[in-house]
Amino acid sequence: MEFFKRSIGCGQIDSSFLDKVITVCGWVNRRRDHGNVIFIDLRDRTGLMQIVFSQEFSADARKIAHDVRSEYVLQVTGKVVRRSPETINKEVSTGEFELQGAELKILNKAKTLPFNLEDAQNVEEELRLQYRYLDLRRPEVHQRFKIRHKIILAMRDFLDKQGFYEIETPILTKNTAEGAREFLVPSRIHTGSFYALPQSPQVYKQLLMAGGMERYFQIARCFRDEDLRADRQPEFTQLDIEMSFINEADIQALIEGLLAHILKTQFNVDVQLPLMRMDYDVAMHDYGSDKPDIRFGMKINELTDIFKDTQLAFIKSIIQAGGKIGALHVQDYAFTRSELESWVNRALKNGAKGLVWIRFTHEGTVEAPIAKFLPADFMQQVQSVIPDLKPGSTIFLIAGPEKDAWAQLGRLRLQLGAALKIIPQDKLNLHWVVNFPLLDYDKDSKSWSSVHHPFTSPQAGWESQEPAHMRARAYDIVLNGVELGGGSIRIHTPELQQKIFDYLGFNEGTMKQHFGFLLQAQEFGFPPHGGIALGIDRLIMLLLNLESIREVIAFPKTQSGTDPMMHAPTPVEDSKLAEYGLKKIPVVKK
Ligand code: AMO
Repeated sequence: MEFFKRSIGCGQIDSSFLDKVITVCGWVNRRRDHGNVIFIDLRDRTGLMQIVFSQEFSADARKIAHDVRSEYVLQVTGKVVRRSPETINKEVSTGEFELQGAELKILNKAKTLPFNLEDAQNVEEELRLQYRYLDLRRPEVHQRFKIRHKIILAMRDFLDKQGFYEIETPILTKNTAEGAREFLVPSRIHTGSFYALPQSPQVYKQLLMAGGMERYFQIARCFRDEDLRADRQPEFTQLDIEMSFINEADIQALIEGLLAHILKTQFNVDVQLPLMRMDYDVAMHDYGSDKPDIRFGMKINELTDIFKDTQLAFIKSIIQAGGKIGALHVQDYAFTRSELESWVNRALKNGAKGLVWIRFTHEGTVEAPIAKFLPADFMQQVQSVIPDLKPGSTIFLIAGPEKDAWAQLGRLRLQLGAALKIIPQDKLNLHWVVNFPLLDYDKDSKSWSSVHHPFTSPQAGWESQEPAHMRARAYDIVLNGVELGGGSIRIHTPELQQKIFDYLGFNEGTMKQHFGFLLQAQEFGFPPHGGIALGIDRLIMLLLNLESIREVIAFPKTQSGTDPMMHAPTPVEDSKLAEYGLKKIPVVKK
């Protein structure tokens, strides 16, 4: 058995250690060999310490130091001394001191790394993920995981003080009706049957309320087999919460208090409470998004009326078909022709059918591909809708069915905001979006589906409303234009649940098969309850101003859902599959 005596972390050495003999352990960050004297910067998670090896302190140690290379793991004993004034390094916390290496033990060697840790930002992510354990050695990566740990600790502490119990729910489970595709796990004992990995602990947390737990939370791992993006992973972590005998305001106040506590204790940032509540309809109308980034303006303006008598055939036909015309206004930026063309291409790439730009020149003229169809007083007409429009302004129009056109304008708004650098990067903007629709109509299948999930309670008055007008007792919280979390007040009576299932077109068989246990629980004294879940990876990504949640997950999957380090997912041999009663068949791609 090797005995490790480690006095202190490399980065923790200060003047109280002067003239003391200490032992440190860590990785060779850098080594400079000057023949007689060898300098090694030793790194552990606390920081760096410079160690000097010379004949004067120990001939043996200097000899071993000669063979040491980057990323070797060392144990070094020596005396802490002050550096001479001209060699002090102000960049490093221990830069005033150095260790005189008296004993040196190589605990492990290292081959040349596949990439330079100090240059990791410029290395392909796939390579970094293939050697993620090396990537994790970087001090800034350590810092992220330290903050992640502290934030989760702060959540636990805050919720404990509010009377919550942390309870784990199963990972091997069944359909949770959350809307995304599920990962399935075949059962060997019950051949032909499958568990599903939870998209969220939704049903279990409701059943915990049926079990009288009243206040539950969990740092919950969730699994969703959906298309990946920078803020989406197939497995991710939620702060999952459920409470009994509460209403929307109670949950919102709890979450506001929790986020303010985290921001204050971890970042010394004060949050103005209560947070703003924005109506879903306002968010969609003004920003073309249910998670608007309101750190900047550039709201969508409706110009349908201005074009109602237009001779432009394509706009005329869109208006006649009930479509609308929306516009984004950019002030004080002189777009070149080629920039304008590239925005048209960008919109087409986004999936828009077209984008029309109109430029109001300082000479008072109007330039646009459709200029000859515009009336002489066009600028005045637009100013009646967009009062701050002036010479030098440009507007971008998208015409089409309102839902599509506004979604395209919403996307373009974010792209313009980013390209023109008008989104303040140092601002944190938290707000709620409320009054969501309850149901969404799918034209293709001619059926209604839940906007959130089928257990979401409708708002009062729903009995006399058309399904399209019913509103949900649901709320989302948005941070800098990213959906950070969402939740709702749930249905707790079998009668109401049955009616919602009727709207969703679930027959009795489907209901019993998928949600029988929940319907049963509703018949045994289910308390009124509601909850929410926050995406922890997203929260940390946004608070640290990072581009992707992969940066705050220790072992993330790539954008295509693979693990290049373990090479997952992997094919399984036929003989292994047979144990589960499974056989490979070619997948027919639609
Ligand atoms: P929802 O589906 O809105 O709600 O998820 C809650 C939050 O989880 C995060 N999130 C993700 N993060 C990373 N990768 C993903 N693939 C991913 N999907 C979701 C988001 C999101 O806002 N059961 C409900 C909550 C409830 O009603 O209580 C639920 O899961 O930040």
